[in-house]
Amino acid sequence: LMKLGIIGAMEEEIILLQNELGAELAKTKAGKKFYKGKFKGIEIFLTESGIGKVNAAVATQILIDDFGVEKIICTGVAGAVNRELDVKDVVISIDVVQHDIDVSKYGYPKGFIPRLGIREFQADKELVKIAKEAGNKILKNNKVHNGRILTGDQFIADRKTVEELWKEFKGYCVEMEGGAIAQTCFLNKIPFVIIRAISDRADGSAHIDYKSFVHDAAKNSFLIVINMLTRI
Ligand code: ADE
Repeated sequence: LMKLGIIGAMEEEIILLQNELGAELAKTKAGKKFYKGKFKGIEIFLTESGIGKVNAAVATQILIDDFGVEKIICTGVAGAVNRELDVKDVVISIDVVQHDIDVSKYGYPKGFIPRLGIREFQADKELVKIAKEAGNKILKNNKVHNGRILTGDQFIADRKTVEELWKEFKGYCVEMEGGAIAQTCFLNKIPFVIIRAISDRADGSAHIDYKSFVHDAAKNSFLIVINMLTRI
């Protein structure tokens, strides 16, 4: 059986999958719960990583080491950076950049990791294709975009920062885990894709919009993941 890892940072982002898959607790490690479920011919390992890059990296490495997952999908919500995105639209990662990495003092572009020599981590082309097909099929009232996803250990809630992120990286949306999952997958040669539905516009009212839209947005990302499982 193919072993698939699915990561969401928060309960809102994994609860629907947990219910749909009837996933059961397999182990707790590093304070994180790992659930095991099955869907058609796929063995699924689902975890709520917790918020931020360190939590996401630790959860990803555990999925790889302890459960032997062969591919990883991240599902959840994000703030819009591309002004053409609406709340509840979805971004499928073409690639992922950690916007909070800054060694520009040595002449490196923002997001670039010296020595590793990488700025953008490429998502798996096949997973991206499947996610896009699933999204186009399943979401009739919201758009599905392929684009760059930005990650940093910051909840972005100010227009000026959004403008800077757009100018510097041309990222479509910003969240707090995808880049860490991407880098961990890269280091372990595991294919990944990040799926993020827009919960807010990362501006001055981001914290209010987030509260209003997190559940609808998380549901759109969930719907895509479930539909992907029939195509993977
Ligand atoms: N996740 C959802 N909205 C976000 C934002 N505005 N910044 C960072 N992560 C987010």
